Amino acid sequence: MQLDLIITNIGQLLPMDKEGPVKGSNMNDLTVWENAALGIKDGKVVWIGSNDEINQVESDQMIDANGKLVTPGLVEPHTHLVFGGSREKEMALKQQGVPYLEILKQGGGILSTVQATREASYEDLVEKALFHLDRMAMHGITTVEAKSGYGLDRETELKQLQAVKEANANHPLDVVSTFLGAHAVPSEYKHDPEAFLDRMADMFAEIKAENLAEFVDIFTETGVFTVEQSRRYLQKAKDHGFGVKIHADEIDPLGGTELAVEMGAISGDHLAVTSDEGIKQLADSNTIGVILPGTSFYLGKEEYARAREMINAGAAISISTDFNPGSCVTENLQLIMSIAALKLKLSPEEIWHAVTVNAAHAIGRGSEAGSLTIGRKADVVIWDAPNYLYIPYHYGVNHTNTVIKNGEILYQ
Ligand code: NIG
Ligand code: FE
Repeated sequence: MQLDLIITNIGQLLPMDKEGPVKGSNMNDLTVWENAALGIKDGKVVWIGSNDEINQVESDQMIDANGKLVTPGLVEPHTHLVFGGSREKEMALKQQGVPYLEILKQGGGILSTVQATREASYEDLVEKALFHLDRMAMHGITTVEAKSGYGLDRETELKQLQAVKEANANHPLDVVSTFLGAHAVPSEYKHDPEAFLDRMADMFAEIKAENLAEFVDIFTETGVFTVEQSRRYLQKAKDHGFGVKIHADEIDPLGGTELAVEMGAISGDHLAVTSDEGIKQLADSNTIGVILPGTSFYLGKEEYARAREMINAGAAISISTDFNPGSCVTENLQLIMSIAALKLKLSPEEIWHAVTVNAAHAIGRGSEAGSLTIGRKADVVIWDAPNYLYIPYHYGVNHTNTVIKNGEILYQ
């Protein structure tokens, strides 16, 4: 067989070859191939074998991995990629102990980014998104979900969704779009959140027709949207053919996790303060829990999501940065892997499932991303690491050696 590219001398290869989503104790069962080689042709993985068998194939190009770790490209299932401005001035408020929801109530937080996003030009938003995508790619991410939600009016939400579409078209990474028009109540609708949700729902048909988003998400939280409002809104989204997601139980335990299960959401995200009942229901469902421990860290919380209990109960868990300008300002999913180990007490095996196969399933890409099996997209990372334990262990820096997307070398 004539290959385009072969990676030889792989110390450890993680194929992530389980049918996903991978639930409960199966997340701890990781396949590791040692002394392996991987062949790529036409952007796909076409050959995987022992390094001793490489004489069976020929290749135009070869990379000697020199005993390093090789995994699928990381999948990032929850980001707020497109936004105007930044919020470094909020750091002082946080240090003074002003709570996140209080900053929002005073018109800051999400609402200050809304102001900046409304003022930003379309071109600036696209350029900024491409910059952040580059940084994600450098850190080993090859597929990423991106939410709108900093417009909160028709024009700006569409501007954000168009920017996501353009970023997807102009960047090698795959970007999966989510409409998060229901991210906060804008000041114009302060006294009538229901009317605001109706305005956002009025956009569903157009967003669907223009193929501007695959999923609809809502922030179900004290002072934002109630469970009842969220249920009605998401039902309308489902009626329009969208998959649904919820920012659930992030700060107050309102029951967003239970609602995600009830609505058949593809994912329930955050789940930092999910109830015992919510954990049980999640475990018995097909909804993936997307845990964002970097957000708990960045908001200075003592309590983290009970991901350990969720997995023990049988749930499928993914982890993500939640990259956004307010509650978690980092594109580095490797750092989140370390926080997941230290604060969520997840094992390295569980963490690798959480950032590959389960993350792909959480954004509807389970059959193409998050795995290195024959026929899949050749989204591959060679890590400057001798084994898979090493990435969560050595924290806060970038360990990528080579990042390959669709068979093409992006970074080396
Ligand atoms: O996932 N919780 C709501 N939305 C984001 C934060 C957005 C922001 O602060 O700008 C989150 O944490
Ligand atoms: Fe978020």
